[in-house]
Amino acid sequence: MTAHDTPVLSAATHLIDTMERMSGGPYPGCRRSGARGACFSGTFTPTGAASALTAAAHLHDRPVPVTVRFSNSEGNPHTPDTAAVTRGMATRFHLPDGSDTDLLAITVPRFVASTPQEFLGLTDALRPDPATGVADQARVREFIAAHPHLAEPIMQHPPIPVSYGTATYWAIHAFIWVTDGGGRRPVRFRWEPEARREELTDAEIATSTDDYMTTEFDDRLRRGAVEFTLRVQLGERDDPTHDPTVAWPDERREIVAGRLELTAPVDDQKYWDTQAFNPTRITEGIELSDDPVLKFRAHAYAESLHRRRAGR
Ligand code: HEM
Repeated sequence: MTAHDTPVLSAATHLIDTMERMSGGPYPGCRRSGARGACFSGTFTPTGAASALTAAAHLHDRPVPVTVRFSNSEGNPHTPDTAAVTRGMATRFHLPDGSDTDLLAITVPRFVASTPQEFLGLTDALRPDPATGVADQARVREFIAAHPHLAEPIMQHPPIPVSYGTATYWAIHAFIWVTDGGGRRPVRFRWEPEARREELTDAEIATSTDDYMTTEFDDRLRRGAVEFTLRVQLGERDDPTHDPTVAWPDERREIVAGRLELTAPVDDQKYWDTQAFNPTRITEGIELSDDPVLKFRAHAYAESLHRRRAGR
């Protein structure tokens, strides 16, 4: 750590405090976001379509084992699986050289803040009122009025899927693919389910258990593997890479970089409860873009991990 790192570390500490307050926590030992979730294992098989565009080992020709954690976005582990919140899919690719690389994605295409400071402001605006247990809506409206470019991303409501296996998950940030020869290109990742995108009805939500998503996924796996394709949007020269609230035009070229096949729950959920997926755990052939939210996340995830490993 250098003296230069200190402001960002204290900003991460402050943000995690604010996230805890927003979720009514802290909940000792739990992730400060995505507290309720479960891990599954499987295999990722590259199609080869990306091999001329990046040196990343898992995107060439050999299948690699993966661990995937699905979660709902809340920091409160008691929030039921069917709550109207975003869901997460955190994937760890276990690479042939023994290292790992992660890809984190959620069920909305755009993030709710362009900078860590805006996310802090939003998180603070969403803190529950002690008397009512819910956020003061006037305060939230005031925040949106002061940040009109965030109105659309904040108001996006992802549907509640029938299964973790029937949702689309966007990794949101731009990353940079780099080839062995030094060629560079901005990209954005998205997981598309092979299953039909079904949504829960209100009646199903009303009668489902709190851990519905995990038990449903276990049942689904007993009937066969659950599959996703990794689609990659190829950015062009002037596409913005610094703002996770701005999508690229739909007509950008896309490739299918690989197929994911999930086959079973991991044997050691307790071990994975003590691990952290991290969007900045990249590998040769992939670089972080200039998105300040992406870079900042490394510090926030480290602080969340530090607290939960300390039993806080
Ligand atoms: C300023 C922006 C953000 C902050 C401060 C933040 C913070 C956090 C924290 C503290 C955790 C818990 C980490 C742990 O204890 O292991 C977490 C989990 C998670 N976040 Fe974020 N996040 C941000 C943006 C995003 C974005 C843009 C995405 C999607 C691309 C995302 C996807 C996820 C997922 C999927 C998890 C669950 C990971 C798991 O299952 O282990 N987050 N986030």
